[in-house]
Amino acid sequence: MAKAATSRVDKLLSSMGYGSRNEMARLAKAGGITLDGVALEDVSARLAVTEDLPGRMRIDGEALDPLAGMVILLNKPLGMTCSHKEAGPLVYDILPARWRRRDPAISTIGRLDKQTSGLLLLTDDGGLLHRIISPKRHVPKTYRARLARALTGREGEMFASGRLMLEGEEKPLAPAVLEVVSETEALLTVTEGRYHQVRRMFAAVGNHVEALHRERLGGLTVPEGMAPGAWRLLTADEIAAIFD
Ligand code: URA
Repeated sequence: MAKAATSRVDKLLSSMGYGSRNEMARLAKAGGITLDGVALEDVSARLAVTEDLPGRMRIDGEALDPLAGMVILLNKPLGMTCSHKEAGPLVYDILPARWRRRDPAISTIGRLDKQTSGLLLLTDDGGLLHRIISPKRHVPKTYRARLARALTGREGEMFASGRLMLEGEEKPLAPAVLEVVSETEALLTVTEGRYHQVRRMFAAVGNHVEALHRERLGGLTVPEGMAPGAWRLLTADEIAAIFD
C-alpha cells in the first residue's frame, strides 16, 4: 500500500485557506484544532494526510474541509462569471469564502458564459481538469438552447458534417449532434469547448440563442431537484462517470 503523504499541521491548514501559519499557531494554542477529539497544540507536528482526516479533525468545532483532489458539481445560475478576477458575481462566490484561498486553487473545468446556466464542474486537480477539457478525450457536453427563430431542418446536417467553420477560425468544428425538441428549442451535443461555441454555431446557421443551459457533461447530469446555485462534491464513481 502506498504511504500516505505527511504535512505539518500549520502548512496543511494554511493551504486549505484557514489562515496564515501564525494564525494557525494561535488557533491551536486556544484549543481550536482537535484530532480525534484531542486538542492539537503543536502545529509543527506532521500528520498523515489520509482520506479520513476530515472526519477526525475539527477546526473551531467544525469538520475539516475536503482535502485537495475535490471535484464540485455546481448547478450554475444565470448572471455569474467563470473567472477568478472579473468584476461582478463570480461562481467562486457560491463556495465557502476560505476556499478562495486554497492552494492548489479551485478552478472551473472549462467555462460557461455569464448568461449560460447548468452543469459546471470545478476542481483543484489540474491533471483531471486537463483530461476533461482535452479535445482528444471527446468528452461530450449537451446544451439545451432556446432559439429566436424557428429551426429550418438543415442545421442537424450542417452541425454533423465536420465542415462547419466558425467566424474567425481556421479549423472546422468536429461533428456535433442536434436533437430538435420543438421549432425553437434543441439539444446540441458537442465534444469541443470553443469560445461561445454553441451560440456561435447557431449564429453560423442564421439563428440566435436566447437561452442556454448545459444539461450533461460526459456521463453526468445535474442531479434531480438541485436548485440553481446549489452544489455538492462528486464521489469517486461520479468522477469516473465523466469519462463514460
Ligand atoms: N457554448 C456557448 O456558447 N456558451 C457556453 O456557455 C457554453 C457553450
